[in-house]
Amino acid sequence: MPKEVIPTKQPRERAFLVGVELQGQATLLSLEDSLVELALLAHTAGLEVVGQETQKRSRPDPKTFIGSGKAEEIRTLAEALEADVILFDDELSPRHQRELERIFGEEVRVLDRTALILDIFAQHASTRDGALQVELAQYEYRLPRLTRAWTHLARQAGGRAGSVGGVGLRGPGETQLEVDRRDIRRRIDHLKRELEKVRAHRQRYRAQRKRSRIPVVALVGYTNAGKSTLLNSLAAAKVYVADQLFATLDPTTRRVLLPDETPVLFTDTVGFIQKLPTTLVAAFRATLEEIAEADLLLHVLDVTHSNVEAQAEAVLHTLEEIHADHIPVLTALNKIDRLDDPGAARLALDAFPNAVAISALRREGLVDLLEAVQRQLYELYTPLEVLLPYQEGRLISLFHNQGEVERLEHSSDGVRIRGRLPGRLLAQFSNYLTEQP
Ligand code: GTP
Repeated sequence: MPKEVIPTKQPRERAFLVGVELQGQATLLSLEDSLVELALLAHTAGLEVVGQETQKRSRPDPKTFIGSGKAEEIRTLAEALEADVILFDDELSPRHQRELERIFGEEVRVLDRTALILDIFAQHASTRDGALQVELAQYEYRLPRLTRAWTHLARQAGGRAGSVGGVGLRGPGETQLEVDRRDIRRRIDHLKRELEKVRAHRQRYRAQRKRSRIPVVALVGYTNAGKSTLLNSLAAAKVYVADQLFATLDPTTRRVLLPDETPVLFTDTVGFIQKLPTTLVAAFRATLEEIAEADLLLHVLDVTHSNVEAQAEAVLHTLEEIHADHIPVLTALNKIDRLDDPGAARLALDAFPNAVAISALRREGLVDLLEAVQRQLYELYTPLEVLLPYQEGRLISLFHNQGEVERLEHSSDGVRIRGRLPGRLLAQFSNYLTEQP
């Protein structure tokens, strides 16, 4: 089984970063900020950043992504800096990757942001489902990019590297590649089957939890925002806390009492990041489903981060991607202990209305936060209209018993109810929402 792992043991590999700004492409972070984040990711993966180069283009070069002139320039720079890895801030297509590997030569490896994030996830996955999910994402990413063995052997067999991808050529390298590909496909099928089992298990567990009727609050947020610290502080639970990106990969759930003594479950989730690889989002479906079924999302923001607004947007975007944008969100502005100026906290609060300012580390503002959670879950009523099929008798009576029904119509498709529901019940009705508020 081919295994391409980024060596992260001593000595640290030297990485040269490359960022490209494509004109007209909407991005959350500026090129510079995105590279700062990439450097942090590289550091988390155990790489040492030795230099960087940026470029603006109207569109990617079809062959080399950055253009062959720029590629040569980077090759020279990276050589001078003795870089082992050239790390691109964007996901490279298999073709780009191949061509860049050819230009940079065998001494350096070409990596992209996706491969790096996958590697970090692989290092941090601590439970079986986390590990399965990451492994699946890694293989799906690698399958179309599996060319190195072929290129390598083709060169050995007579320097025909230039004919990579040529039609009708079959050699020992290609045979090996076919074997590798088949192995990977088999492994992918196996992982998918295993994940289905995990998913079924989680679903049973969630159904049980629903029956127990304890509302679930899912902590969501950009990586490093302080979710695990908050969970620790709220529940005095020992969740792994580290000043690293993606310290938490598996949801951890803790029972917490609200000020009125009703219990709720707080669950920590994987940190989000801009340009989160889509293969990863797909692989983490089982974990992310936890979020989509929560009664309330607690969005934790690092208010001291210079890109806090872009980070918030990236999180909301990911929530849309995983179909969790129907769940009410409460925002916690974290790390206020690091703001020198109390006025700054007030300004931040203006930018995020209805947010609660906290310091998860110093345990400040937590009572206010729990009160806000209580209000969202029990006291605030949200207007909505649903069309409930007749077989959903349980939901129909739930609306009657715990919500406020304003209008009710029977039709052949079911019961159309317009009214208001407390926040904690909204998620259960999400499949039946109509366009009307
Ligand atoms: P991921 O696992 O990447 O999703 O991160 P996370 O959101 O769970 O963040 P985590 O709780 O691991 O915290 C990240 C870093 O921020 C750690 O070094 C924490 O000690 C620090 N931190 C968290 N909350 C606060 C806070 O209120 N104040 C300060 N000063 N630091 C904090």
